Amino acid sequence: MSGFSAEWLALREPVDHRSVSTTVRDAVREWIGPRQCIDIVDLGCGSGSNLRGLAPYLAPAQRWRLVDWDLALLDHARRAISEWADDCESAADSLTVRAAEKEINVSFEQADLMQDYARVLDKPAGLVTAAAFFDLVSPAWIADFCAALAQRHLPLYTVLTYNGEEAWTPAHGKDAAVLAAFHAHQHSDKGFGPAAGPDAISALRNALEARGYTVIAGESPWQMDRADASLIAELAAGTAQAAVESGQVNESTAAEWLAARRNADTCRIGHVDLFARPS
Ligand SMILES: C[S@@+](CC[C@H](N)C(=O)[O-])C[C@H]1O[C@@H](n2cnc3c(N)ncnc32)[C@H](O)[C@@H]1O
Repeated sequence: MSGFSAEWLALREPVDHRSVSTTVRDAVREWIGPRQCIDIVDLGCGSGSNLRGLAPYLAPAQRWRLVDWDLALLDHARRAISEWADDCESAADSLTVRAAEKEINVSFEQADLMQDYARVLDKPAGLVTAAAFFDLVSPAWIADFCAALAQRHLPLYTVLTYNGEEAWTPAHGKDAAVLAAFHAHQHSDKGFGPAAGPDAISALRNALEARGYTVIAGESPWQMDRADASLIAELAAGTAQAAVESGQVNESTAAEWLAARRNADTCRIGHVDLFARPS
């Protein structure tokens, strides 16, 4: 399994929140309609960013189950949600918070989703969600997961899945080589078998439409400029490291690219959001 640091997730959180597709989010809201309460399960929740981004747009009462294999991130999520909330009551394995004029109960669950997704889906859920998660999993896992969703007639709302499109300015001579190497790394095993990477959205769409789901998708690119310099610098460092790990570019090429890229003027990283509801 790949590790993600709380610092990296905190750095990306504001850009993630401003990038989500409002078209797809509106489709989710319309599907929820006037319901007063909804049960949501967030797969690969990290520090809880998806909850903080989405909760203000959902029903007045919400019960979230946050699922991750990483106990340190689950602990971090608990603290970050308490700090984000206006009021917070803490119990041993859950929080009840008031935030964004919503009453939100949050429980935390450690699970390895490679093995345990069916057990996670068996517990009460009205909506399954995930942020920046599906590019980590394999096409085979996506096929099995979508079959499990369909068996339970569960809708899926997933945001910020990487789609492979990148544009950095000013242009650099090594952009194409580094991007090709980064994409090779995107397909490496992150704990679920060879990862779908930028093909994840088409794999999800195909699997869900084949099972009668209605799917709506919309772009959610990170559009960054000098105001996002810290995220650009970290992203460039991560991309250069992944490119070297792929074996397709050498260290000096990656270092030359990184020296220019960590001070890029603008950077656009493509993502797609998807909402799929069962027929
Ligand atoms: C890119 S991070 C996204 C975190 C969070 N959703 C966000 O948007 O900030 C991917 C998350 O998936 C989790 N993850 C990776 N492999 C996992 C597995 N096998 N089971 C459960 N969670 C996993 C990681 O711990 C991490 O929190």
